[in-house]
Amino acid sequence: MAQKAAKDQQKELLKKDQKHFLHPTSNPKQQAKSGASIVLKRGKGIYVEDIEGKRYMDGLSSLWNVHIGHGNEELANVSYEQMSTLAYASSFKGYSNPAAIELSEELANIAPDKLNSVFYTSGGSESNDTAFKLSRFYWEQVGKPEKKKIISLERSYHGVTVGAQSATHLPAFHSFSGSYMNGMFHALPHLTDCERGNTSADHYEQSIRGIVEREGADTVAAVILEPIQGAGGIYVPPAGYLEAVRKLCDEFDIHLIADEVICGFGRTGKMFAVEHWDVTPDFLSVAKGITSGYAQLGGVLIHDTIQKEIANFDGVLAHGFTYSGHPTACAVGLKNIEIIEREGLVERADEMGKVLADRLEQIVTAHSTVGLTRGMGLLRSIELFKDSKSFERFDPNENAAERVYQACFDRGLLLRTSGGNGVNIIPMAPPLIITEPEIDELIDRLDAGLTAFESSL
Ligand SMILES: Cc1ncc(COP(=O)(O)O)c(C=O)c1O
Repeated sequence: MAQKAAKDQQKELLKKDQKHFLHPTSNPKQQAKSGASIVLKRGKGIYVEDIEGKRYMDGLSSLWNVHIGHGNEELANVSYEQMSTLAYASSFKGYSNPAAIELSEELANIAPDKLNSVFYTSGGSESNDTAFKLSRFYWEQVGKPEKKKIISLERSYHGVTVGAQSATHLPAFHSFSGSYMNGMFHALPHLTDCERGNTSADHYEQSIRGIVEREGADTVAAVILEPIQGAGGIYVPPAGYLEAVRKLCDEFDIHLIADEVICGFGRTGKMFAVEHWDVTPDFLSVAKGITSGYAQLGGVLIHDTIQKEIANFDGVLAHGFTYSGHPTACAVGLKNIEIIEREGLVERADEMGKVLADRLEQIVTAHSTVGLTRGMGLLRSIELFKDSKSFERFDPNENAAERVYQACFDRGLLLRTSGGNGVNIIPMAPPLIITEPEIDELIDRLDAGLTAFESSL
């Protein structure tokens, strides 16, 4: 009887979802026809459970964000305390609150040197739009108002607000609804030689340097890049690349914006990924891992040189969100960083990342359709090929990555897909608390999913 009531309740929920909830980054027609693909009701550690009681391993930390894992009561408690004391306060017109102040200091402590100020947002897209606007604003303040153009990289994902969407290069997002911001350019990623100034290197015109020379440095405000490209498929830059871009930006008086929305807060085995290359950006965008997804929060960390100029502006800085400096989100962020540091999760991401890399190499060896694996820390991917020896790609109509994703889903492993147009990538980014036996379990499920996929070919 109780079982029937529970089933009826589940059906009701699915019906309501179908009727009233337009899902982001989802297929509306499929949703209208079949409803939500999963309805999650609870989570603990690296696992989540759906309304039917089926348990899944969260192989992507949900959306690359649940760093400390699900169901953490310390975060729930700090949230309860802050909500009971002062859930919300504005940060406009000079208003402030202790949680936002304390988090600002903590971010300055953990960020690379000279990134000592923060502008708060509610998420990653807003952080990147904020970085674009503050960069342009800075150039106006120093008498260079023509410096407006932004250069991002192909394969990049920077979010979906109009500015961030224009910087994003993944085709479905970039072209969605034809909403573009003028003055956005896309360079081919990781052309280290070109960025170092070798004008006869291949694809020079499509490099950042080539675009700067063509457009004129006096029109370019900033370069934005993910230190390790995430949603595009997990691409680690070659040695020397980030340093070369930093040097190029210095040479031409252009800001470097590091989008660490995925990479930040330990994901890659350092608190921030730029530390792998000892590069200090002018702006550093954060979100996701700053609260491990327990509250909506983002921010842009700002270099002292820029902050000094902004602090000279005697007017209203006409930019800000209702939830900039949200006390509850900031209290959660502060506690989350405390947990990451106390539990040694940054070092753990490095250590477990090596274990995961090793197991993924075994997957490459064991499966004829897995050609390679790449990544850093607990941010990794495998790439699928029809023939992994010759790197022949699947026909796009074969939907290879989607089928592997589904096969893993059916075996209780939540991942995602990247690529498109014959490029088939399966990224993974488990919570930083993952243990070695849990990595083995992840690999077992991935292995079973791949085997099922391969036998369906
Ligand atoms: C690198 C990067 N930047 C920005 C964003 C956008 O963040 P949000 O979805 O919080 O707006 C994302 C989201 O996945 C991201 O991966």
